[in-house]
Amino acid sequence: MRVEDGRLLLDGIPLTELARRYGTPLYVYDAATLRSRARAYRDAFAAEAPARVAYSAKACALLGVLRALRPVSVSAASLGELEAAVRAGIPASRCWLHGNAKTDEEIRGARALGVGRIVIDGEREHERIARAVRGAPQRVWLRVSPDVVAETHAHLRTSGDQKFGVLTVGRGRALVREISNTRGLRFVGVHAHVGSQIADLDTFRRVAAWLASFARQLRDEGVPLQEVCVGGGLAVAETATSDPDLTAYARAVAAPVHDALPDATVIVEPGRSMVARSAVALYSVQDRKVRASGRVFLAVDGGMGDNIRPALYGARYLAALAERGDGATEHVTIAGAFCEAGDVLIEDAELPRAESGDLVVVPGVGAYSVAMASQYNHRPRPAVVLVDHGRARLIRRRERTADLFRLEGAVSR
Ligand SMILES: Cc1ncc(COP(=O)(O)O)c(C=O)c1O
Repeated sequence: MRVEDGRLLLDGIPLTELARRYGTPLYVYDAATLRSRARAYRDAFAAEAPARVAYSAKACALLGVLRALRPVSVSAASLGELEAAVRAGIPASRCWLHGNAKTDEEIRGARALGVGRIVIDGEREHERIARAVRGAPQRVWLRVSPDVVAETHAHLRTSGDQKFGVLTVGRGRALVREISNTRGLRFVGVHAHVGSQIADLDTFRRVAAWLASFARQLRDEGVPLQEVCVGGGLAVAETATSDPDLTAYARAVAAPVHDALPDATVIVEPGRSMVARSAVALYSVQDRKVRASGRVFLAVDGGMGDNIRPALYGARYLAALAERGDGATEHVTIAGAFCEAGDVLIEDAELPRAESGDLVVVPGVGAYSVAMASQYNHRPRPAVVLVDHGRARLIRRRERTADLFRLEGAVSR
């Protein structure tokens, strides 16, 4: 994003122009940022070969976004995300499906698409996968839960006493033996993901070391595993622009694995840190209220229905005005339009004085916003645009009120 004549531009296009053309709330993804982030990840991990980078599609599975990231593999949290990857032109053989409660239908669907790996995350899941296998064996990983507690919001932590993965080394080893003896399955690797929005590289180093030691034990028992996936979770700085260094991150996760198993492929599956910075949200100010306390509320035309993260786990954002961005600023609370007191997008933003009709820009919203959007309050979900080489293209049209009722059929009076 850059400023020209007091206006904010993305890929050379004024954001006010995009809002005028497509309406608000509007999400705008920048293809160049997506491509350069995928390249940066690939380059960082190429230096640590054998290594592989997948994009965790749960952060945003829009086809237009997946297409821009196409050279990477995809980690899918559901059959829908896997299907999105395939529709975007990413071969299913380069993808994997994880999840702690996969249905038989999902397993069969993933098989039918030709999924590369299935991440086993259940006590008897291997038997259900085996039943779905006709023909070539299914390559599988086992998700384990390393004894490493990540410093992050409790809702973003996935280690310790929680629902994902196998919790003890002993049970993990026994399960790997069972999986290895199950016809139709080929056990090829281990997988873990201890949480999201983790800035401390030492956490990743410890996860990788834990997995490497577990994988080494399996190898010593004669299990020919080749792949060690350390999950995603790298943080994106919320109110600053400098993120953890990718080269240092790649080193932190690859070195412990390659020290123990030099020929193993180390795999990461970032979501947030791949796409968060590639999008901005545009909202129109509807109202301005000044409370007796002096607190200023700007009410905008979106909120928790298009970005639940602030309400869900206290995510923080910065904001700017799309034009008139200079002059004296004030502290404001940017409130959403949804009928919940907790629908506050930004508690404490610093903005030039804004009035109804002004356009608020929230950068850094590419991850877990559109992906988690809902129709709460029967508000249609926003449109999404992709800018590329100076041109804007609608990649998801704005929902219409009629879309809200599409699945309900006619109601007899
Ligand atoms: C198994 C798994 N892998 C990868 C990710 C991506 O995490 P992040 O978006 O924090 O990189 C997640 C998200 O929580 C996940 O559950």
